[in-house]
Formats: sequence, structure tokens, C-alpha cells
Amino acid sequence: MTKVKIGMLGAWRGNSYIDLILKDPEIELVAVCEKHAPTLEATGLPDGVMKCADFGEFLESGAEKGMNAVFLCNYFHEHAPYAIRAMEAGMDVVSECTSAGTMKECVDLVRAVERTGRKYMIAENYPFSLSNMEMARLCREGRLGKILYAEGEYNHSASAGELRAYSPGKYHWRAWLPRTYYVTHAMGPLMYMTDSMPRYVSGRSVYSPFVHEQVEGFRAVYDGVGMMFCEMDNGMIARFTGCTAMASDYSRYRVCGDIGGAEGGTGFGENVRLYYHPFTVPDGAGGQITVYRPDPARFGKRAEKALGAGHGGGDFWVLENMKDYFLRGIAPFFDVYKGVAMSATAILGWRSSLRHGENMAVPDFRVESERKLWENDDLTPFPGENGEGATLPCTMPLP
Ligand SMILES: NC(=O)c1ccc[n+]([C@@H]2O[C@H](COP(=O)([O-])OP(=O)(O)OC[C@H]3O[C@@H](n4cnc5c(N)ncnc54)[C@H](O)[C@@H]3O)[C@@H](O)[C@H]2O)c1
Repeated sequence: MTKVKIGMLGAWRGNSYIDLILKDPEIELVAVCEKHAPTLEATGLPDGVMKCADFGEFLESGAEKGMNAVFLCNYFHEHAPYAIRAMEAGMDVVSECTSAGTMKECVDLVRAVERTGRKYMIAENYPFSLSNMEMARLCREGRLGKILYAEGEYNHSASAGELRAYSPGKYHWRAWLPRTYYVTHAMGPLMYMTDSMPRYVSGRSVYSPFVHEQVEGFRAVYDGVGMMFCEMDNGMIARFTGCTAMASDYSRYRVCGDIGGAEGGTGFGENVRLYYHPFTVPDGAGGQITVYRPDPARFGKRAEKALGAGHGGGDFWVLENMKDYFLRGIAPFFDVYKGVAMSATAILGWRSSLRHGENMAVPDFRVESERKLWENDDLTPFPGENGEGATLPCTMPLP
């Protein structure tokens, strides 16, 4: 493969990637599949990019035009079946979060990657902000000692009008999204910084009277926070949110070793706050506490370019990682196993919330005997497009 010839499924979130793709000489946008005509029109695609509304036609006609990869920006809980169809049609896949909407789909997805031999990665972008990359560097270079604890928050509250606009239609996924499910922006950066995977999760979620009043009549989730607490496979513990509506900054991350700790996120801009015990300050550290903007050049020549791109540069790095993988065979951090590990943590974190924090083992999807236990588990809080088929509550019991 000398060029990623990509097709985009879903042109709402997809449109921000389309803008970046059209400027990238190593990527060609072959086709866009979007079933909502006004959204498709709003993309203002150049001549020559195929437009369609049907995924089957998109794969078939796209293949005839040389399409070799698919970017999934369709509904949050529907990525896995489309990823599998694309890989079975011989295409590599980059998928928006989340990888899979049920435990069964997690199993189906990893088996499809292994069966087809196609490349799959999750487009998790929050780990690639400047401050999160710097915190990853500090961890990986051992500057903080052994990592004991990490925490991540993805806070995204909105006005009632915005919430209504984000979830068009009574059965849109955002109206039924349990608070733990949108986990990748809080958990992904921690996994990336500390090179770890979840082993056990305990979750708790909490009702918000304010959110209830905001969304009454058009959304079914009245909780304000879903929080998960995990044992990770590197021997540390981690606490992180799904997506919250609590009054707090947009996002924040913290990682603590036994020698030093680092913190970043809104409130620090692109800065990192680095802390050492008074008795562990290394030579040349510049003091016990330093707050600094990391030098982007530390992350290679491409890093300056990233700064103007969406989500603190994260969107730029997703495409760079995709090109490195699909064109040059450099495996991304967020492969299919990391993707489904995050999805499973979110799903089990929700079931744990419904059972007062019961501790749940997160399967290692690389191990057939562990994933086999979940191959038929298709419980879901999401109704189908006509309101049918939800088998789990999506919100905590009303007080
Ligand atoms: N990483 C990030 O920073 C970020 C930001 C926003 C959204 N997202 C993710 O992007 C995904 C899409 O979210 P969104 O904000 O675009 O909202 P959305 O889910 O409402 O939009 C999805 C779009 O895909 C289209 N679509 C869905 N299924 C289709 C199908 N089978 N055929 C043709 N078109 C189809 C819909 O018409 C819609 O325009 C979600 O998974 C969301 O989590 C990620």
C-alpha cells in the first residue's frame, strides 16, 4: 500500500477528519457514506469523492475505486458490525470510540481481526495532547518511579439545547448512553501513559436532579457521573470517569509514582505540573514542583503541525498513527485488544454500578479461553431505531 485510500462512514464527527484527510498527501478520500442527506451535503466534498447512503454500496463501489481502508464515524454503539463487514471486504479499519457496544461484539471483533488478518485501530485521540504525551514520556522514562496510581476525568456538560441537538431522535445513542460507557477519553490516556491494561473494574454511577430536569422528555439517562476503579495489569490502580456532567474542568489527568507525580488537563493549558517528594528531587529537575509547557520537538518533527489540529492535536496524531500502521506496518498503541479492553471496562463498569460496585474481571481478549466466556453476552442499554431490544437499564434507579 503506498497511499491510504479511505472511505468515511458517518459525516458528522467524520467531517472534522475529512478536512484533515483532504490536506494529507498520503491519504486519498475515495468515498463518504452518510444516510442523512443534509449532513452529507454539508461536507462540501470535492468532485471525484463518491457519495452514498448505503454501506453495502459504499464497500462495493469503493472497492472498485481502489478503497483499501474505512474510517468509522457512525453511531457510537454500532462500530463493531461495520468494522467486521469492512475487514471481510478486505479493508483496514480505523474506528471512532467505542470499539464495541456489547461483550459479544468485543469477542466477534477480535476474532474478525485475527480471521481476516486486516489492520484495525481505535481512533482514541485524547492521549495525544501535548501534556498527555509528556506525561507518557515521564512514565516511560521512569522519571516518576514505579507508577502506583492514575486518574482521568472526561467532563463534558452541556446546556439543555445542546444536549437536544447532540441526540437527534428519541432512540439516538446519546439519549441512552450510561455514564460509564464513554470511557476512552478518560481511560485511554492513562493506559497510554502507563502502558497498562485493565484486569478488574468496579463502577459507581450517580443520579443528578439537575441533569434529570435538563433532559426530561428527550433523554433517558439522568445520571451525572459514572466512575470506575480498576486494577491494571502493571500492578497500579486507576480511577477514571466515563463522560460526566458534573461541574468541573473539561478534562484532567494525573499519574503518581513512588518518586514523583505529574498532572495535566484544563486549568494547566498545555502545561504539565511535575511534583517530587522533597527527598526525591532528581538532579537538574528545576525544583520540587515545576509547571512547564513541554517542548513539542521532543515528540518529533511532526509535533508542531499537530498543535493546530482538533482535540489538542489528538486528531492529527490519530491520522499519523493510521498512516504509520497501514502504510508502514508500525503497530499503533491502540490496537484491537486495547480497544475492546476499554469497551469491556465501560460495559462491565456499568453492570458493576447497577450492583453497588461489585468487582468484575475484565477479560484479556488475547486469550481465547477468557473471551469465550463472553461470546454470547449481548446485553445492551441501547434500543434499536424503533425503540426495541434494550436489555439493560441505562440509568441508575431513581431515588
Ligand atoms: N474522539 C472524539 O473526540 C469524538 C468527538 C465526537 C464524536 N466522536 C465519536 O464519533 C462517532 C459519531 O458521533 P457524532 O458526533 O458524529 O454523532 P452521531 O453518532 O449522531 O453521528 C453519526 C453520523 O453517522 C451517520 N450514520 C450512522 N450510521 C450510518 C449508516 N449505517 N450509514 C450511513 N450513515 C450512518 C448518521 O446519519 C450521523 O450523521 C461516535 O462514536 C462518537 O463517540 C468522537
